[in-house]
Amino acid sequence: MKVAVFSAKPYDRKFLEKFNQQHGHILKFFKPNLDSQTVTLATGFEAVCVFVNDSLNRTVIEALSNLGIKLIALRCAGYDNVDLNATQELGITVARVPAYSPYAVAEHAIALILTLNRKIHRAYYRVREGNFALNGLLGFDLHNRTVGIIGTGKIGRITGQILRGFGCRILAYDLYPNKEFAEKYGEYVALEELMRQSDIISLHCPLTPETHHLINAKAIALMKPGVMLVNTSRGGLVNAQALIDGLKSKQIGHLALDVYEQERDMFFEDLSGEIIQDDVFQRLLTFPNVIITGHQAFFTEDALNNIAETTLSNITAISQNHPCPNQIKAVNS
Ligand code: NAI
Repeated sequence: MKVAVFSAKPYDRKFLEKFNQQHGHILKFFKPNLDSQTVTLATGFEAVCVFVNDSLNRTVIEALSNLGIKLIALRCAGYDNVDLNATQELGITVARVPAYSPYAVAEHAIALILTLNRKIHRAYYRVREGNFALNGLLGFDLHNRTVGIIGTGKIGRITGQILRGFGCRILAYDLYPNKEFAEKYGEYVALEELMRQSDIISLHCPLTPETHHLINAKAIALMKPGVMLVNTSRGGLVNAQALIDGLKSKQIGHLALDVYEQERDMFFEDLSGEIIQDDVFQRLLTFPNVIITGHQAFFTEDALNNIAETTLSNITAISQNHPCPNQIKAVNS
């Protein structure tokens, strides 16, 4: 297939070209995100290959359909950025990479928890400046603390298992509780109960209309004063202004974000010489007890190998009319 690869970074090119030697597709790499301004770059191609911040709303999908695009190959697991009703109506196939490395994301969530708790981000700079004072670096033992995992799919379960290894008590909430997880690692409780009891809350559910701003002012008010919140899932799960209010009132004691609702115009780019216009984001960065990483939880060599391998296998299966287990259907289909 002739494939237009959008939001292509040097690492995407490296891994996709390596695995494409076994598949022989024609890949052309485009730096811009796919949106209504850039969609014409897909002229003459049969498929587009996209990532988390490409915008596949109805307008873009209609434009892709007019250009003869038959396949949208996502290089990610989440597909909240794709209007699946539009793709279905227009007969465009959508495939994703459901699990490229749940370990990568779970381990990043753990890295954020440990960093925030033991203030490694502050200690690093202090010691480099010859400041060996410990004031302000006080942490707590994870052992015996209660951690709430919202969404116990692949990533949430691994996060819970690792934290169980630290001796944490795990509470879990999911629309579809996992029996094995409940038997071995954690206790399923109602969402409100999880929010009330947890010292640390880690989000691992997808962004859907039901989960949009799941963490808002009302939810934050239910939580334990000084709670640690970790979001490595999707930015839209939290209301960023409510987080700022919660941090200012000290209801939130620690916050780690790997994702941000308005990340599209910032993340994955070097904007170090630019003026960031998002005042909410900039305010979040001013708190000493906040860590933000730029959607890097997935970013391990293992994950990039798996992403490239599965993406190209999806394209090959669909181009040969073979069944593709990673094809996504609209919810109402
Ligand atoms: P998964 O599909 O295995 O698990 C998601 C779980 O959330 C399922 O058990 C599902 O039942 C549950 N869920 C769905 N709606 C819910 C609701 N309203 N309330 C509670 N639980 C609900 O997905 P996986 O692989 O564990 O990924 C989770 C999320 O992590 C993805 O949706 C994606 O947004 C995010 N992600 C972030 C990455 C990063 O680099 N920061 C990389 C990969 C995924």
